[in-house]
Amino acid sequence: MCGIISYAGKRKALPILLEGLYRLEYRGYDSAGVAVVEKNGVVQSVRAVGRVEDLASSLSGVDMHGTVGIAHTRWATHGAPSVANAHPHADCKNSVFVVHNGIIENHNHVRSALLREGHVFSSETDSEVLAHLIERALAGYRKPFFLEDAVSEALRHVEGTFGIAVVSAHDAGKLVVARRGSPLLLGIGDGEFFAASDSAALVRHTRRIVYLDDNELGILSPQGYEVRNFRHKPVAKAIETLVGSLSDAQKGQYEHFMAKEIHEAPDVIRNALRGRVLYHDGTVKIGALDSLAKKSARIERVVIPSCGTSFYAGLAGKYMIEEFAGIPTEVVHASEFRYAPPPLGAHTLVVAISQSGETADTLEAVREAKRKRAPTLAIVNVVGSSIAREAQMGIYNYAGPEIGVASTKAFISQLTVLSLLAVWLGRQHSLSVSTGRSILEELQYLPQKAAVALAAAPRVRELAEIYGAYDNFLYLGRKYNWPTALEGALKLKEISYAHAEGYAAGEMKHGPIALVTDTFPTVVIAPSDSVYEKTISNIQEIKARRGKIIAVATEGNTEIEKLADHILFIPKTIEMLTPILAVIPLQLFAYYVAHKRGCDIDKPRNLAKSVTVE
Ligand code: AGP
Repeated sequence: MCGIISYAGKRKALPILLEGLYRLEYRGYDSAGVAVVEKNGVVQSVRAVGRVEDLASSLSGVDMHGTVGIAHTRWATHGAPSVANAHPHADCKNSVFVVHNGIIENHNHVRSALLREGHVFSSETDSEVLAHLIERALAGYRKPFFLEDAVSEALRHVEGTFGIAVVSAHDAGKLVVARRGSPLLLGIGDGEFFAASDSAALVRHTRRIVYLDDNELGILSPQGYEVRNFRHKPVAKAIETLVGSLSDAQKGQYEHFMAKEIHEAPDVIRNALRGRVLYHDGTVKIGALDSLAKKSARIERVVIPSCGTSFYAGLAGKYMIEEFAGIPTEVVHASEFRYAPPPLGAHTLVVAISQSGETADTLEAVREAKRKRAPTLAIVNVVGSSIAREAQMGIYNYAGPEIGVASTKAFISQLTVLSLLAVWLGRQHSLSVSTGRSILEELQYLPQKAAVALAAAPRVRELAEIYGAYDNFLYLGRKYNWPTALEGALKLKEISYAHAEGYAAGEMKHGPIALVTDTFPTVVIAPSDSVYEKTISNIQEIKARRGKIIAVATEGNTEIEKLADHILFIPKTIEMLTPILAVIPLQLFAYYVAHKRGCDIDKPRNLAKSVTVE
């Protein structure tokens, strides 16, 4: 959702804020703004619709010398993208400025009360109520007043989620930040201090990080920082070290982050495996799983609450865990889980999968599982993220920053980690050493096989040239590759805006086959696996209706060449790992179709990288 970067130090704030916004833009990008406190106490603010570069253009010729400021790039929740709805939002006197990430659930009620008290609003957003609540708190304070006290007073009236940064002409030189339900972390520099919604905005300046927890408030100034709870009590916080490098979050020789991240697949698999394979024992060595073994009694059931691509990874994980560990596994949309959780208990392992570790629904699912005393395990890519910190156990993907809004390398990493989890759980049950070894051995070969799948990129690009203008696609797969079909369809629709539906191939005859025509092509994932023959039948049924077929098949399969119009070959691997290879041509296909259509591949319309609101 929205990106927040704020600064209090000795350098001019504006260049730091702008550079931070560029690094946060993948989080949301329909408008942006800055506010800087000048030496005379006046706060200067500029906002613009569109991208950060549009804001930068609006700022050309504007002198901002202040060393304390806040900035925001927006993904609209309440109110269309416009200058008036862009953050920062100000109070009636233009003396308090706030940027906000989250949703103020009771904003209508609060706005009505403030309007009755004579406050004048200038936007349609929920966030603006924060500026007016702080204004009201400041007005009500006995002198001297402090901005942090007014902020915590204001937040007492707020229901919902927030990550905020506040500056004011009254308490100039001070930056106050607070969080409940939306990520916010402090960067501790040398005589300068930062607060941001995402570490990507900080890594250039400092690796010393303090993660705020819910209901905590940070008070930053060029002289130092302090963390308190909302009852004004100081809170001791550890300074942690940020991992990853600046170059990880750069495109390198690729035109888009998405292209770079697709091509990182071999390294991503290696990173997910590194140090975790006990080949001799046919099992897995992961700290979180060791503590799971100690902490909880026998796991009798697994529930996987997740969203989007992570949900599809969970679906593939379900097949892995049920086949190799024999444990009933249920995958639930986290947005459903939090309002209709399945029965949970001490013998149900809740596995939350999230690339960002900040998806609001998945975070709430973890909290609900903990309330129900179910052991919680997170599979997360962003180190130190909320889900990683709130789940009792965690397995990091170590896939490096994923900047492209469309998740690619994270999906492959999630599947790799889930295969390790399936082996570990299996070896806790009836999985033999030899079967464990055979899976782990094949995993060792997977990076090279992923590289072979990537080498077919020119062939995929040719297909995108042929099919790039089609507006409707059906994606079909069975068993392990039903989730692959869902994921392939999601990739295409979210970055090329073509309509694409993923379906279990066996379901095609129960309705979707009505869609098949020669202008409604079908992508079929048909590796040489246990359900190959059934999938071939589906291909024949589509052919009989003049449907075009793009098949993803195992190299060396000559039979399918007689049936499919186009074939994208992948190396042979064991069935449970086929999604890891089969998804690569689908990611590439989505990328090249979107490229042909001239879409904004890394920042597709209406989307954001991390959905930190319900
Ligand atoms: C995937 O390409 C999308 N960006 C989206 O579906 C994403 O997977 C979903 O929002 C979940 O995000 P998370 O993995 O960070 O929780």
